[in-house]
Order: sequence, then C-alpha cells, then structure tokens
Amino acid sequence: MLQHYDPKQKGATQQNPEHMDFNKDYGTPQSLSENLITLQVDGVEITVTEGTSVLRAAALADINIPKLCASDNLEAFGSCRLCAVQIEGRRGFPASCTTPVEAGMKVTTQNEKIGKLRRNIMELYISDHPLDCLTCPSNGDCELQDVAGAVGLREVRYGFDGHNHLDAEKDKSNPYFTFDPSKCIVCSRCVRACEEVQGTFALTVDGRGFASKIVAGQDDSFLDSDCVSCGACVQACPTSTLMENNVIEMGQPEHSIVTTCAYCGVGCSFKAEMKGDQVVRMVPYKGGEANQGHSCVKGRFAFGYATHKDRIKTPMIRDNIDEQWREVSWEDAIGFAAKRLKEVQAKYGRESVGGITSSRCTNEETYLVQKLIRAAFGNNNTDTCARVCHSPTGYGLKTTLGESAGTQTFDSIRHTDTMLVIGANPTDAHPVFASMMRRRLREGAQLIVADPRKIDLLKTPHLKDAIHLPLRPGTNVALVNSLAHTIMSEGLEDKAFIASRCDDKAFLKWQAFIREERNSPEAMQSITGVDAGDVRRAARVYANAGNGAIFYGLGVTEHSQGSTMVMGIANLALATGNIGREGVGVNPLRGQNNVQGSCDMGSFPHELPGYQHVADDEARGRFEAAWGVKLDDEPGLRIPNMFDAALAGSFKALYVQGEDIAQSDPNTQHVEAALKALDCVIVQDIFLNETAKFAHVLLPGSTFLEKNGTFTNAERRINRVRKVMPPLAGKEDWEVTVALSNALGYEMNYSHPSEIMDEIASLTPSFSGVSYDRLEELGSIQWPCNEQHPEGMPIMHVEDFPIGKGNLAITEYVATDERATRRFPLLLTTGRILSQYNVGAQTRRTENQTWHDEDVLEIHPHDAEERGVNQGDWLGISSRAGQTVLRAVISQRMQPGVVYTTFHHPGSGANVITTDSSDWATNCPEYKVTAVQVEKVTQPSEWQKNFEDFNKKQQDYLKKGRRHRSEEVSR
Ligand code: SF4
Ligand code: SF4
Ligand code: SF4
Ligand code: FES
Repeated sequence: MLQHYDPKQKGATQQNPEHMDFNKDYGTPQSLSENLITLQVDGVEITVTEGTSVLRAAALADINIPKLCASDNLEAFGSCRLCAVQIEGRRGFPASCTTPVEAGMKVTTQNEKIGKLRRNIMELYISDHPLDCLTCPSNGDCELQDVAGAVGLREVRYGFDGHNHLDAEKDKSNPYFTFDPSKCIVCSRCVRACEEVQGTFALTVDGRGFASKIVAGQDDSFLDSDCVSCGACVQACPTSTLMENNVIEMGQPEHSIVTTCAYCGVGCSFKAEMKGDQVVRMVPYKGGEANQGHSCVKGRFAFGYATHKDRIKTPMIRDNIDEQWREVSWEDAIGFAAKRLKEVQAKYGRESVGGITSSRCTNEETYLVQKLIRAAFGNNNTDTCARVCHSPTGYGLKTTLGESAGTQTFDSIRHTDTMLVIGANPTDAHPVFASMMRRRLREGAQLIVADPRKIDLLKTPHLKDAIHLPLRPGTNVALVNSLAHTIMSEGLEDKAFIASRCDDKAFLKWQAFIREERNSPEAMQSITGVDAGDVRRAARVYANAGNGAIFYGLGVTEHSQGSTMVMGIANLALATGNIGREGVGVNPLRGQNNVQGSCDMGSFPHELPGYQHVADDEARGRFEAAWGVKLDDEPGLRIPNMFDAALAGSFKALYVQGEDIAQSDPNTQHVEAALKALDCVIVQDIFLNETAKFAHVLLPGSTFLEKNGTFTNAERRINRVRKVMPPLAGKEDWEVTVALSNALGYEMNYSHPSEIMDEIASLTPSFSGVSYDRLEELGSIQWPCNEQHPEGMPIMHVEDFPIGKGNLAITEYVATDERATRRFPLLLTTGRILSQYNVGAQTRRTENQTWHDEDVLEIHPHDAEERGVNQGDWLGISSRAGQTVLRAVISQRMQPGVVYTTFHHPGSGANVITTDSSDWATNCPEYKVTAVQVEKVTQPSEWQKNFEDFNKKQQDYLKKGRRHRSEEVSR
C-alpha cells in the first residue's frame, strides 16, 4: 500500500506546515528548506522537504524507527546507533538520524539483520542499567523501556558483575529535579539540550568510553554549577536519570491540558500534566509558537504558589484597616463593596472612584474591569500597571509607526544578522527568548548591548565581537541620537526605504535635527560616558547588517524621556529600513505575561479597547450602543493622578484587580499615604499582598490554572489559558467582576469567557477575526486578525504603516532632574532576576527562593572601597524620596557611580527610594534613575521598622479573621 505524505496538503497552517503531532518526537528538527524530495521507506512513498533526516521522514509517515540519542529539538548526534537502517545501494547500516533524505532513496527500517543489531546494542545498554522498572519513577514513561520492548530484547548476557555505575550517588541539590547517575546511558541528550536549546553549557560528558559520565560545571552539584534550572535536560532525558521531584513523589501524570505560562511576556505554552486536579508537572509544549517546547525555571517549576497555604480562599471585609478581617460569603462581600462604592459616589461624585486592571489577568478579565469602570462607575478612571512599565511604548510606537506594539514574531530572530539590545536583560526577564537569541548569536549574528550593566547576554558562550555601550543611567536619548547621527552623517541610511516608506516632511525635519553636531557621538560622549568610537562602530554594524533588529525593555521606557527614547528607537529602524520583514523590527520585551493584552483591552484612561480614543465619537458611539450606557468622552485619571487626588481628598475609592501597587509603584511612602486616605479599597488577589493590607474588601483571586481566558504576549500573540483545576475560592476572576457590576446595578451577563472575547471582537477592529473556535483551530493568533488578515499578522508594517508613512520624530535629549549631586552622588537603577517575578508574590512562595531570598545592592568595587564597604555589609541607601537598608554585593557588573537592586521582596523597600519623577508623555515612573547616597549602617531604616510592625499587625488581623470564621463554623 502506498501512503503519500505532502507537507503542502490542504489544512497545513503557517504554524504547523508539516501537520506535526506536537506530542510526538520526530527524532530530528524540521528542515526549513522549501524544496521537496520523494523517497521510499519500507515501500511507502514519502515526500518531505530537503534536509530532512531519514528518521524524521519515516516518523512523519508513522514509521517509527527506534532511537535513543535523537530528539527533534536537537541536532542529530548519531551515537547510539539504534536507528540503523539499510539503504539500497549503500553498504552497512547507516544511522537514519544523521542521514539526510535523497530523491529516489529506498530505505528498509526493519529486517532480521537490523533487528539483531538493535538487540545487541540494547543488551549493552541494559547490562549497566538497574532493572528496577517497577519501582522506577519513569515506569510507563521511559524511552529506554520502550525501545527495549520495541527491539524485542528478551535476555541480557553480560550481567552486572563487572565494573558498573549502579552505586553512583544521586544529586538532589536542585529543589525541583534529581540527577540519578546510576540510570544514565550517556546519550548526551541532556548536554546537547543545555547547549543547543538553553544555551547555558552547564553540562559536559566527562571521561571516555565506559568511564564516561555526565557532570555539571567542573563536577559540581547542579545547584553550584551554571545551571539555571530551565528543565531542558530533564525533558530531554530518555530515562529517569534526570527527573522532576514531583514525579518521583507523586508518580506519573494521567492527563494533560495545554495552557499558557502566567509569568513573563514571552507567553510560553505548557502542557499541565495532571493527576486528578493536582498539577504533577508543567511540560513546555512543542506546539507553542512562542517557546517551541522550551521553558525557564519559573514557568516550568514555580507553580506551587497556586496551592500555597497563604492563598485567600474566602472573601473578607472590614470597616477600616485598623481592625481584623471578617470572612463572609461572596454575596455579602460583593454587596458590601457595591454599597461602599455607591456611598462614596453619592457623597463625593461620580469621578471619586476608579480601578486598576491587571497585566497578570486574562484579556477577558481586563476587558471586563475597564468596562465595569466606564459603564458601571460611569467614568474613565481606569489604568493599569503598564502605566509603570510600557506606557511609553504605546505612545512612542503609535507616534512613529502608527501601532502600539512590537513588529515581529520571536521566531523572526532566526533571520537577524545584528541584534541591538537596549535597556533589557533577556536572560533574566525573558529567558526563553534569550535562549533563541543565544542560538542565533552562536550562529554568528552580532550583538550590540546598550546598558549600564554588563548583562549576561554579553557572556553568551561562543559569542564573538559583541559591542557593549555602558551608558550612564538617564542618557538613553543622547545615545540613540548619536547612533542616528552617525548613520546619517556617514551616509549609512537606507535611502530607498526612506523615499518609499517615510513621510517626507517629517524625515527632512528629523534629518536636519539629527545631523547637528551636538548630536554627534563626540559631543554626546561627556553625557553618555560611552566612547565615541564605540558608538560609531555600533552604528555601522547595525546600519550595515542585512537584517538589524532592536529589542528593548524597561531600561528604555522607565525614564523621564521614556517615550522620546521609544521614538528614537523607531527612528533608527526607519532610517535604516529595518522594518517590515523577517529578522528586523522594533521589539519591546514586555515584562508581565499580559502587558500587551491589558493595553489592548482598553485599560488606559484615554483609550477604549483596541486603542480607540475616548474622544473619538464614532468609536465611543459603538461602545455606547453595545454597552447600553452613555460614556465619558474625557480621559480619566492615571494611577499617579489617582494617588494625588486621593491625598487631595477628591478621589475616595479604588478597585484593584491582581496588582500590588503598594509594592510595585515608585515612592512607596506616597502610595501608602494615598491608600490610607481612601474610604474604600477593594483588592482582588490570590494573596494578602501589600496593597491588600490597606483594603476594606478582599476578594479571592484565581490563578491561571483555575480559569479560562487568553493572554497576549510580547509578539501580539493571543494564546489560550485553559482551566486545569477548579478555582480554590469558587469563582474565576471574571465572574467576580460580573457580580460586582450587577450589584452596582449595571447588568453583565456572560456564561463563559469565550462570550467576552466575542464581544471584544465585535467592538475592536484589530480583533474582529478572533474567537475561541479560531484559536482552537490555529493554536494562537497574532493580532491584527480581521478580514484582511484572517490568520493574524506575524510581521507588521510589511507594505505600509497604519498611519500611511513612517513618521520620524524629533527626539531632543533633555537631562533628567535625577542627577548625581554632592548629596546623592550615585545613580541607582533597578531590574529583575531570573528566579523571581515582579513583586515576588508568586515566586517567593515557591522553591525559587533557593536562588534569591533577599534583594541586595550591587555596588562597584571602587565605590565600595571609597565607603569602606565589604561584601555582605548592611548599607543604608538614601534618596530624596526615602531610605532603606540592603546587604551589599560587590560586583564588577556595575560601572563606578552606578548601583543596582531588584524589587522582589516587599521588606527591602526598593521603591521607598525611587522617586515620582516620570516620563513626560505617559507618567511612566523613572525607576531606572534615582540619585542616591550609600553608607554603612547597623540597623534597618525607619520605613523598614514601620513596615515590619504594619505587616505583623495585618497578618494578625488576617489570622484572627480566619479563626473567627472557623469558630463560627464549628459552633
Ligand atoms: S542524564 Fe539522561 S539525557 Fe543525560 S546522558 Fe544520561 S540518560 Fe542521557
Ligand atoms: S536545567 Fe537547563 S541550564 Fe540546568 S543543566 Fe539542565 S538544561 Fe542546563
Ligand atoms: S520565559 Fe516567561 S513565559 Fe516562558 S516559562 Fe519563563 S516565565 Fe514563563
Ligand atoms: S538515534 Fe540515531 S544514532 Fe541514536
């Protein structure tokens, strides 16, 4: 019988051209060639793309050749020889994993000789392998066991008597997985996964022949090595040598559900592998377009917070924040919240209340919160945490390119020749994308990093000729202008692109401005601190790259000139024609999982969903008709305005869903004072977070595992979030918002988040083609998705811009007020670390604490020595906003004059020091530059002492509230 496999057959989507079953391992990676080759395997005619291995070609036609050292996310290695086949006209038994297909090839995968050869090989493997299958954690999910069965191994002649590895000691140092070398068959899949997939190179094969073994680092424990606990080696291991501790403890999972990671803006897809409603492990899903089967320590392992004992499972209320909580029913809590909101509005007016949506919640939930505020509260006082991270991206990209979003897919980096990374630290904040970057860098792409710190991407193994531009914090615009000056003054611009794609007038004006001598690298050197020669070299490398791509993060946006800098970045891409095709573009790396989505969903006070301005009569009219209410045509309050209005007495009640503004927003003491000034604070969260300590109503939130919905990642990719367990408190977050709205008298009626998405699609032109059915069909969709782009749009601005032509904007450098002075001679900049996430509420409640259990202050040896500071000393850090105390870590990653910390632990008070200085266009806080002084101290700061007291008191109120309830129940 002849079967025909054709990758171009009907139904193949852009995302899955080979119709792959993402649960199957095809042995070797997909070939990117478009040429087709036809061969015969066991008499079956198969057509595949050129460059495909014989092993993969057979697997695509469901002819499964045994294999052990091959896996379809690793380059073929050819060491185990189990995949041996016979090929007509060739001698011997070539390994099918390392043999590429050829036209007319005739392959035999099974006959007596091949069978005997495979049995002999398996016999050797098994002779040094413990035969404890029944009690092995891999039992039922072991490739070695499967292959032994598949080749028909029935006896092992060599026995265990000689030299063997059966007593090798286990390494349990990693909190999430165990390394049991007695089970290792030295197939090196783990080593290759660490190199090729993760890019860390933490593992090696040590020794030769029978003595060879896998070691981490220089024969260190996994924890002491460079391992970043991404789990790629665990996933690659065909035996139980590398095994998740959860599987060892709980046994094999029994079913799985594909969902999306709730941590960062990469938006990795995972199979939540379950036993009943318990998650056994999260396995990165090969069909996930953003991560393509890879993960980082957070998404892969740090999900234990979902069932942590601190979870709030019952609604709670209290009259003021100096009394204990009372646990009540959902109905009573919602009724109490609605009554308080109505009372406030009756007394202080319609504008006296507002709400904050969450970039961690789903699109559907965020949409509903802003709808609640606009339709039920009757004002536009809605804002989101994107205010404090990527709001300048929205402003800057909309002004220059006409759309507030990144232009590429992550996968587009495979075509990038030069990557310019500005103010981003991908290995820590976007780890899976960083692995893709590292792979491309190993293939020879060039790297330019503009960052005050020597970020880890610069330490990529096998990296050549990287350029680091270690600018002073706060001087981004000066640097980007000097890069653009070099391009324009040296004639490196793309004249054809400018002529056809950019607005003439805007370009000529910008050209005149940027060519001014004051923007030259030489003139800017004294401001940026970066050598003019290095700037010129970087500008040439970027402009001359076939494909130059820019990636940026919060080190760009969180500045007083955040929006200006985003425009400066877009100018660079426009002037060099690096926009509108694979491998190029302007790519903001979003911090939280759904920052893109929360902005898309109309969280900002001036924009309805889909960035439609509230003052646009036609757009507002459509929402009014659909929602059945009159909407305000004036933008409402931004978060900082809400705080100011609260202190001024005109803003009195706030609904906060899934955000912790008391920890994440700058100038903590100002935020705390504002929260204390409110009559009613309603917090919906999974834990008693810092903001909830100032609340009067605490509504239990649900984690991503407990609800249905969608997240939109940094590439505009809408991914499904699927419920894998019931919500611990009985309600998904969207249901709570619906209940609150109904209690306020504005009726909402949905039975499933898919209906909310249908409403979004009907009101938002860029989402008009999105539905849950379509998402099931396509896997994921990159908006815009509409009639013109029914499968979404991976690359934006291919032929034109939404504003017609690219608009180069004038980007005058204006120095920030936050400058080093005699009183505050150092500049503090803040950032993230791999193992923790944002305010740490989730990751602090997992074993990720092993890697980072306190925030520290990184200080250059020169600054440390000047102050007599030693490693581990307590340092008082003061700014004009406040003071806090952190432990010193002396580090060469900083340049002299710059200190650095993270903000993952509330008691460290990093944001007590940050000021309320902010971006001129969007109010995004200037987290990245605070002038500080540092001195040795012996005790915590006043704020830290007060924090401890307040925290203790609030934890006590929570405990008493819970005890009160359990006593009532038992009576
Ligand atoms: S640990 Fe696993 S993947 Fe690594 S060599 Fe041993 S058996 Fe292979
Ligand atoms: S967990 Fe990741 S980083 Fe660590 S050894 Fe395995 S592949 Fe390498
Ligand atoms: S890279 Fe981001 S989305 Fe992916 S697993 Fe890690 S935290 Fe989750
Ligand atoms: S699978 Fe081909 S040699 Fe191991």
